[in-house]
Amino acid sequence: MSQPTDTSPPKTAPTGSTGLDFQPQRNGLGVELSTPIQDIGADAVPELRERVWRHRFVLLSGQDFTDEEYVAFGHRLGTVRPYFQEHYHHPDHPEIFVSSNVPQNGQKVGVAGTGRMWHTDYSFFDDPLSMTMVCPRILPASARGTHYVDMVRVLAELPDHLREPLEGKRCFHDATNYYKVQPKDIDRAIIELVEEFRAEAPGAWHPAFIEHPVTGDKSLYVSSGFTTKVEGMRHEEGEAFLKELFAFVEQERFIVTQEWRIGDIFLWDNRPYIHHATTVPKGEQSCSYRISFNDGLPFYAGHTGAVGLAS
Ligand SMILES: [Fe+2]
Repeated sequence: MSQPTDTSPPKTAPTGSTGLDFQPQRNGLGVELSTPIQDIGADAVPELRERVWRHRFVLLSGQDFTDEEYVAFGHRLGTVRPYFQEHYHHPDHPEIFVSSNVPQNGQKVGVAGTGRMWHTDYSFFDDPLSMTMVCPRILPASARGTHYVDMVRVLAELPDHLREPLEGKRCFHDATNYYKVQPKDIDRAIIELVEEFRAEAPGAWHPAFIEHPVTGDKSLYVSSGFTTKVEGMRHEEGEAFLKELFAFVEQERFIVTQEWRIGDIFLWDNRPYIHHATTVPKGEQSCSYRISFNDGLPFYAGHTGAVGLAS
């Protein structure tokens, strides 16, 4: 059995030289910062980015901002990467990925019901997204939130029979099963849609265990949403193994939920977490805006596909 390791992020959050005042969150998920995003200038961004790497999650609370200010903040944080499928884009700001079931001016905007499976953003590309931020713009009447599982902790607790078969192995990540059918797809065969999607997003192999480029933390990099194969395992063997692995990963005791409030922005490091959006009850409106970016570092130690920081 593996030795117990303290995998938790640092509990205290001393104020840095930029004067940003980070406070630990009550639910144990990272830290909270109430400084308005408009006041977090280029001089403070390195510290904020460092906090995201160290604490894994930063709640930017009590915010009041325009879409333009949100986009500008994203560009200060890193190399913003608009989603590869344009129908997810905000009509005026392609940087914003819109998850919404609320029409604007009678037009469908973005895509409804996104992220309702365990996943990590863009793991199905060679160069995954380092960081993601999400804010609700319209909250449903029922409680809404995002669930997170800290995969550093999961790896530390992974039993030998699930750890050993993954040592030195890669896993394949593929999003085809979550392709969202669009109006333009009517009268087209599923195989045609699959082939078209795979031409754009063919999937990617990544190590099962990844090492964080800043903290050195090792995490299990798989998700039941996107991970479909284990290197060297035959189809049936791989399927059975992954089923057992995901059952271990998705245990209640690993899941932390961050509830949504208007004025909150969730900002997290995609390396140590998988996440899962909660479902909106039928008939209730919901709209959230996501901006994802690369932070200029390799996604994991030894990774060669990193997108650099914007100048
Ligand atoms: Fe996501």
